[in-house]
Amino acid sequence: MDSGRRCLLWVLLLSFLVQLMFVVKGNVVFQVHHKYGGRCKGKAALGALRAHDSRRHGRMLSAIDFQLGGDGSPTSAALYYTKITIGTPPVDYYVQVDTGSDILWVNCQNCERCPTKSDLKIPLKQYDLRASSTGKTITCDQDFCDAAFNRPNPDCRAGMNCEYSVTYGDGSRTEGYFVRDYFRLDRVTGNLQTSAMNGSIAFGCSAKQSGELGSSSEAVDGIIGFGQANTSLLSQLASSGKVKKIFSHCLDGNEGGGIFAIGEVVQPKVNRTPLVQNEPHYNVNLKAVEVGGEFLNLSTDLFDMGSSRGTIIDSGTTLAYLPSEVYQQLMARMMSKQPNLETHLVEQQFRCFWYSGNVDDGFPAVNFHFEDSLALPVYPRDYLFEVRDNEYCIGWQNSGMQTKDGREITLLGDIVLTDKLVVYDLENQTIGWTQYNCSSSIRVRDEATGNSYAVGAHNLSSAFTLSKVNVISILLLIATLLILID
Ligand SMILES: *[C@@H]1O[C@H](CO)[C@@H](O)[C@H](O)[C@H]1NC(C)=O
Ligand SMILES: *[C@@H]1O[C@H](CO)[C@@H](O)[C@H](O)[C@H]1NC(C)=O
Ligand SMILES: *[C@@H]1O[C@H](CO)[C@@H](O)[C@H](O)[C@H]1NC(C)=O
Ligand SMILES: *[C@@H]1O[C@H](CO)[C@@H](O)[C@H](O)[C@H]1NC(C)=O
Ligand SMILES: *[C@@H]1O[C@H](CO)[C@@H](O)[C@H](O)[C@H]1NC(C)=O
Ligand SMILES: *[C@@H]1O[C@H](CO)[C@@H](O)[C@H](O)[C@H]1NC(C)=O
Repeated sequence: MDSGRRCLLWVLLLSFLVQLMFVVKGNVVFQVHHKYGGRCKGKAALGALRAHDSRRHGRMLSAIDFQLGGDGSPTSAALYYTKITIGTPPVDYYVQVDTGSDILWVNCQNCERCPTKSDLKIPLKQYDLRASSTGKTITCDQDFCDAAFNRPNPDCRAGMNCEYSVTYGDGSRTEGYFVRDYFRLDRVTGNLQTSAMNGSIAFGCSAKQSGELGSSSEAVDGIIGFGQANTSLLSQLASSGKVKKIFSHCLDGNEGGGIFAIGEVVQPKVNRTPLVQNEPHYNVNLKAVEVGGEFLNLSTDLFDMGSSRGTIIDSGTTLAYLPSEVYQQLMARMMSKQPNLETHLVEQQFRCFWYSGNVDDGFPAVNFHFEDSLALPVYPRDYLFEVRDNEYCIGWQNSGMQTKDGREITLLGDIVLTDKLVVYDLENQTIGWTQYNCSSSIRVRDEATGNSYAVGAHNLSSAFTLSKVNVISILLLIATLLILID
């Protein structure tokens, strides 16, 4: 544990990089481009296609268990990943879990600049369409393609692939074409028990990576997007009548891994807040911020939809980004508990200090209050990272520092979400959470039988280490990213 903490700063910085990727992706640059333009939103045509499948297969709503791996915050590198199984014969792939994006893609055979090894100590694979007897390409005239790009492609000719590309904030990019294949899922069939279930799903076959995606040391086989668009795995499964559009995660901050499942959670109970409609991300309405039991005195319109777009909850991000007004008051209240504390900057990024006591006794808890009286408590042990013995860095970031257009985002990432069960109920358009032991289990409903079953925690692998060389390139990248963001 302690040695794990030693490399924390590096991991934190790495996380910062990854999360910047996501911040920018979400708010400024991210687009899933069709080669002919157009934004990937996934629309009704896809629904119609799936409605057809659904009639064919009948309703067989299930709960599904995903094995989760990756180190918990603060040592997470924003990288929680899961194992997925695709094709005939079935092959396993490790993909990063991201609630900030909408498609599932994996590296494909012969792809350009795809990673071949990973410091995560997971075996990297490339999907080989020809080796899978159930794999097919999706052509540009198919309904999925129209749905993915929200309109028919006027340049589509017979036999042409349905191409996509995803550009991230640091300029890195993945591009390829959509394919469809069998997908094996672990259907929850009893307490801590699963059995294999087949589904056919459309996903991206990545033919080319550019930028860091191809070379980062924490490489995985792809990304599984749990965003709201109809192109996501969850939407596809839901529209083919296999699952309800509800998923949850519990990221274990101490042990790594945790719980990740599709299905209605019946235990524990969570309180909920409505999702802001028509947003690409999971946005909720923040009403007030309380520090050490006292409310911050914030401008009444600070969190209004007019000037911001709500608060983004994003498990693909590690830290928490607050508008300057919130950040400054929060820091002032925090520091007023420790008037003699001096902070220093580490790597020009993080405000850090020396402290020998128990941080939970020395610093105030922060409580975010959302619409419908849902509170999100964040304790000092969550928002302070021990980078060396007795040296702590602060996880709150001033989002005002990162924008020039005056729009300050509020984005809450893994530091506030770890050790909580977070339930995304897209059926009812709510999100909810509760403090939880992520090494234990939750109960989800199997809609087909009406039974509820325990789904337990998983811990897919393995510690990882970062070399000095990696660290330097990461720092350089962060610098580049900051410039890009400006
Ligand atoms: C997804 O498809 C459903 C129909 O199945 C439709 O009602 C919904 O608006 C679509 N959602 C998006 C985000 O396109
Ligand atoms: C899933 O599909 C594969 C390949 O077609 C088949 O061999 C297997 O029996 C199916 N499994 C289930 C549980 O339907
Ligand atoms: C809150 O802030 C406003 C504007 O800065 C100020 O006028 C007001 O006195 C403050 N209220 C309290 C209770 O500090
Ligand atoms: C979701 O909404 C439906 C209908 O509005 C309601 O019956 C159900 O109890 C809600 N579920 C949850 C978990 O809130
Ligand atoms: C969390 O749950 C696990 C598994 O049930 C248990 O071993 C552990 O003691 C629990 N941790 C806490 C802090 O309660
Ligand atoms: C999960 O894996 C990590 C790293 O391999 C290990 O330190 C930790 O003890 C594991 N946790 C559990 C609950 O097995």
